[in-house]
Amino acid sequence: MTEIYRASTTAPVNIAVVKYWGKRDAKLNLPTNSSLSVTLSQADLRTLTTATCSSTYTGEDTLTLNGSPSDISGARTQACLRELRSLRAALEEKDPSLPKLSKMPLRLVSENNFPTAAGLASSAAGFAALVRAIANLYELPNSPTELSIIARQGSGSACRSLFGGYVAWRHGSQEDGLDSKAVEIAPASHWPEMRALILVVSAAKKGVSSTSGMQQTVATSDLFKGRVATVVPAHMDAMEKAIAARDFAGFAEVTMKDSNSFHSCCSDTYPPIYYMNDVSRAAVRAVEAINAAAGKTIAAYTFDAGPNAVIYFLEENSNLIIGTFYKLLQGVDGWKEEAKASSSSIQLEEAVSSI
Ligand code: DP6
Repeated sequence: MTEIYRASTTAPVNIAVVKYWGKRDAKLNLPTNSSLSVTLSQADLRTLTTATCSSTYTGEDTLTLNGSPSDISGARTQACLRELRSLRAALEEKDPSLPKLSKMPLRLVSENNFPTAAGLASSAAGFAALVRAIANLYELPNSPTELSIIARQGSGSACRSLFGGYVAWRHGSQEDGLDSKAVEIAPASHWPEMRALILVVSAAKKGVSSTSGMQQTVATSDLFKGRVATVVPAHMDAMEKAIAARDFAGFAEVTMKDSNSFHSCCSDTYPPIYYMNDVSRAAVRAVEAINAAAGKTIAAYTFDAGPNAVIYFLEENSNLIIGTFYKLLQGVDGWKEEAKASSSSIQLEEAVSSI
């Protein structure tokens, strides 16, 4: 009987609090700056990927994404597959008794349980799950940080979804990109009270993809030069200190300022890129009102390349924050009844489960 080899894994989304925006090398997907994110392990926003291979399979590798065939001929996916295969081939060469999985076509099946490409970090979870599933299938001994170098080539933010908790992607300085990788700053258990509320303002596909948006920003924004040179290094430093000290006010201030800096650079892009809309701006005002009423900073907003808001807060303020958002946003035009607000805790667990 011919064997079918199989491995399944899930990877969660991560939401950056210091944003990656800009590539210094588009081919290797090397960033202009470091970034830092929180992995939403419990948010139920995940990609589930199953990788199989068999000597009975013929033809090219294939990917089925949310039930439809997906093109994987792009350079980025091919880079991930090539690197994973060559790691497997090296194992097979060392131990000739191993089945020659590296020579077999791959069948990949992925499901997102959230809107694809709506600014909810779908590519992050997607590539992290793809890399991890194949690494598991191939029984690669590589660490999550080593795998992050591969996932990064699929989608930059994906390198951070190989970990749970608080994760930094160090930009690195080598031309080969081998030092541009993700590391865990602190596990989720370090700050178990942290919560994230995701306000799905629109599940529509985003207008300008992150990939092309950031390249336009790098090429045309003067403001962006200052962001890379001074703003992000200061934010990385302050953010790592705030997380180490579990200083929510510090964490929140950097999160909001970094989101504002990123979206200002988008507006400064020529022609300008606008990801946030009126509902997003209402969410900003709501956070300001919550913090003003509390007399201290108890909530922080952040927005990626889309209008959806992610609000960070601590468990002790959970009812207040979720309640306020429901009340405030119900009166806002464009806030749909079916809009989903989900609360999630960030828990201690490996972001990507093994097979
Ligand atoms: C705004 O990782 O999607 O979410 O590397 O071109 O695939 P590519 O970009 P991607 O960009 C994410 C941008 C962001 C900020 C962040 O996650 O850090």
